[in-house]
Amino acid sequence: MNKYINIDDIENVSKTIEEAIQLKQSPFRFHHLGKHKTLVMLFFNSSLRTRLSTEKAAKNLGMDVMVLNVNEAWQLEFEDGSIMNANTAEHIKEAAQVISQYADIMAIRAFPSLTDKQKDESEYIINSFVKYATVPIISMESATAHPLQALADAITIEELKLKERPKVVLSWAPHPKALPQAVPNSFVTMMHELDVDFSITHPKGYELNPEITKNTSINYNQNEALKDADFVYVKNWSSYKDYGKILCQDENWMMTKEKLGNAKFMHCLPVRRNVVVEDAVLDGENAVVIQQANNRTFSAQIVLKNILENLS
Ligand code: CP
Repeated sequence: MNKYINIDDIENVSKTIEEAIQLKQSPFRFHHLGKHKTLVMLFFNSSLRTRLSTEKAAKNLGMDVMVLNVNEAWQLEFEDGSIMNANTAEHIKEAAQVISQYADIMAIRAFPSLTDKQKDESEYIINSFVKYATVPIISMESATAHPLQALADAITIEELKLKERPKVVLSWAPHPKALPQAVPNSFVTMMHELDVDFSITHPKGYELNPEITKNTSINYNQNEALKDADFVYVKNWSSYKDYGKILCQDENWMMTKEKLGNAKFMHCLPVRRNVVVEDAVLDGENAVVIQQANNRTFSAQIVLKNILENLS
């Protein structure tokens, strides 16, 4: 592996999930791999899990870690040929090359604007780092994808499934703010890699990018979609078609204990209680969100391990 920007950077998904589960049993087994290697993590946006779990994963592998909150550094310019006489003080061309001298691997979090679909879909921030950095790049959530989260989700399903081919439902939920499609995009892509009976439920207008959902079954009736589910992944996202807009705040889409039934409740966190999901679900025995968050360490660790093994 020489980068992890999208799930298709993983050569063999089921083998990677198995290896991550093995790493969880003995997290320090490959502590020698990261000796004298540095991970630089760049955050354009907030984080709790991604920041701490990726740092923990790197340290489990013996790496040194440096973190930069990009908003505290010089404002970066991404346009080629721009006349930098306004707010941006440093071009990505220099910044990426300079940081590469301090890092053996770089990890980047950069959310979308949700106002400029074309620009967001170009993934100009993470792709600029891929273009100008001289070290491998890991996405810690980009404009359109959150592949480390999706790998943790897959690990969690593999650990908890009680049948060979579980039924997994991705259910939209209301939220007061317009949120990116990155998490559901990557979850959908990951579910296409697993042997699961997968479907999506959301109100009309919340269809994700059809190039990502492909022929996934979409049911606009949440109760119907949830019937006999083994895993229910709840997430809000803003409209893809009416880009970045909130079309519906219908609280009837909030996940409840009654609707969940016997299914395991999954969410990437952070989650707004009693808006996205009621307390009774999060405080109940079917919620697996804490295990999911724990698996963020091992999704990051298997990715870092594979990249470290590939460094010359
Ligand atoms: N799930 C997730 O990415 O959490 P953070 O935003 O806290 O990193």
